[in-house]
Amino acid sequence: MANPSEKLALRRRPRRLRASEGIRRLIEEHVLTVHDLIAPIFCKEAGLREEIESMPGVFRHNPEDACRFALELYERGICAIALFPCIPEGKKNSHGTAALDPNGLVPWMVQEIKGRAPGLLVIADVALDPYTNHGHDGLWNPETGEIENDATVHLLCEMARILGEAGVDFVAPSDMMDGRIGAIRASLDDANLERVGVLAYAAKFASAFYGPFRDAIGSRRGKGYLDKRTYQLNPANLREGLLEAQMDEEEGADILMVKPAGPYLDVISKVRARTFLPLAAYQVSGEYAQIVAAARNGWLDLEAAYRESLVAIKRAGADMIFTYFAPLFVGYTV
Ligand code: PBG
Repeated sequence: MANPSEKLALRRRPRRLRASEGIRRLIEEHVLTVHDLIAPIFCKEAGLREEIESMPGVFRHNPEDACRFALELYERGICAIALFPCIPEGKKNSHGTAALDPNGLVPWMVQEIKGRAPGLLVIADVALDPYTNHGHDGLWNPETGEIENDATVHLLCEMARILGEAGVDFVAPSDMMDGRIGAIRASLDDANLERVGVLAYAAKFASAFYGPFRDAIGSRRGKGYLDKRTYQLNPANLREGLLEAQMDEEEGADILMVKPAGPYLDVISKVRARTFLPLAAYQVSGEYAQIVAAARNGWLDLEAAYRESLVAIKRAGADMIFTYFAPLFVGYTV
């Protein structure tokens, strides 16, 4: 039996670098700051704010409250927000025409926020799902059951132009149609909107973790989850995600995004290694929901778990993170 008091002859004792708060701070490799975070904001046309059942602590706000919420986050140091509308069912149709209303909810919100806080960066999604009655991001052909790529891209170009004219800083195509980044870039430039950037949802996977978001914008259809596998990526595929990122870069994206974030850290890290563009990651609704739900049950420490989830995304290589924890990070409680 070894003598328990006998010293091991170790050349290295890595624990020396973990022994005190001081040394732990000095050797820290990644720090999460408020400047890394983008806050998604859900808005609706009117009425009192509603909490999203599957995303406790996250609300749908009427336009005035949504603006105030955005300004409050800005005052606390958040430099960018992303707007997501919940459109009344009565205004949805199969073509998502409400997406092209220059006086619609999102253009109005963009104008209002940029008017009141020009320094706050405003990002708006480009995709049809908040506006279609079938919940798909593109035009759905009921005869073939297909999502029509090129016809959708034409609409997305128009949508991006309307958002650009309203004053948005970045449009964020989240639809995964082929060729939309190049087409949107060209259409913005044609409209003298060179200043508007394109943040491409480059590697967006067909994830089960989007469920709560679909509750939030009212695009959930039935019990199961809407099948977007003809345009979003197979969660099993890494190379395909890298190729999509490369194509979006070639088509002129200013920023690339990987989504979801936590379950796809390998994709983040590999895209990071292959591009010089800034890289965003979207910690999606289901990632938020699982941490919050476990914390509410007393099974996880909310503060520690959410911070760990975010620093891991940064460590993987993301420069910026879309996260529903942004308000909590800046101490905003509703
Ligand atoms: C839709 C869109 C989705 C999200 C952002 N934009 C959902 C989807 O593709 O169904 C998901 C965000 C989240 O889950 O937090 N174009």
